[in-house]
Amino acid sequence: MADERLIVALDFHNFDDVKNLVNELGDTVVYYKVGMELFYSVGAQVVDWLKSQGKKVFLDLKLNDIPNTVAGGLCSLMTLGADILNVHASGGYTMMKTAADRLHEEAAKRGIICPKLIAITVLTSVDQNDWNNMGYREIPMAEQVVRFAKLAQFAGLDGVVSSPQESRVIREQCGNDFLIVTPGIRPAGSDIDDQSRISLPSYAIRDGANYLVVGRPIRSAENPKQAALDILEEIKDL
Ligand code: C5P
Repeated sequence: MADERLIVALDFHNFDDVKNLVNELGDTVVYYKVGMELFYSVGAQVVDWLKSQGKKVFLDLKLNDIPNTVAGGLCSLMTLGADILNVHASGGYTMMKTAADRLHEEAAKRGIICPKLIAITVLTSVDQNDWNNMGYREIPMAEQVVRFAKLAQFAGLDGVVSSPQESRVIREQCGNDFLIVTPGIRPAGSDIDDQSRISLPSYAIRDGANYLVVGRPIRSAENPKQAALDILEEIKDL
């Protein structure tokens, strides 16, 4: 059985591109990430199609609104069959707790497996300058990331999205049952693209990641299937 720790990011806005890549990767990859770009252009049919192919889906729509609205939105997304959904931890404890509780209640009512709910802590695109401009100069950003992770856990969420640099301390603080999903993965020799805080696949797993989100290193490879196989080979004994 394929290693589910590899999640391939489908950052396309065209359904045919999705089908081509998923078909090309075949049984090598089980998990796919559908983000805003794809979901807003192709819609729910892409989740349906992936599920019909026996794939798992991380629906990365990063909800952030008042508690009732986020909880309702997540319950609607759950009916599509996604396996992981997410919200912004900056929406606060009450929003996260309401979202997690309602999702569990709704899944139990429908007799379906509840999707995992994870939180974005601080977006990795936020640099120190952005951070200061938002008025948080006095708070070390790394400390805030861990605070959000612990708040998410306290609210009943299953895990967080974290840069490779943050996963080790989150793992230490939140324990082994907390999911850590890590983007910014770059195999040796691949382009960095616009990522700045990057990690090798094996290092990210070693630092505590449960799932690796990989986009361009697979999508833009001359041979995407081989690129995926190389990553799986690198982490297979970890
Ligand atoms: O192409 P690449 O491997 O950089 O793609 C990484 C994926 O993970 C993209 O879909 C990107 O939006 C997403 N992501 C990220 N950094 C975050 C959160 C999500 O790169 N902090």
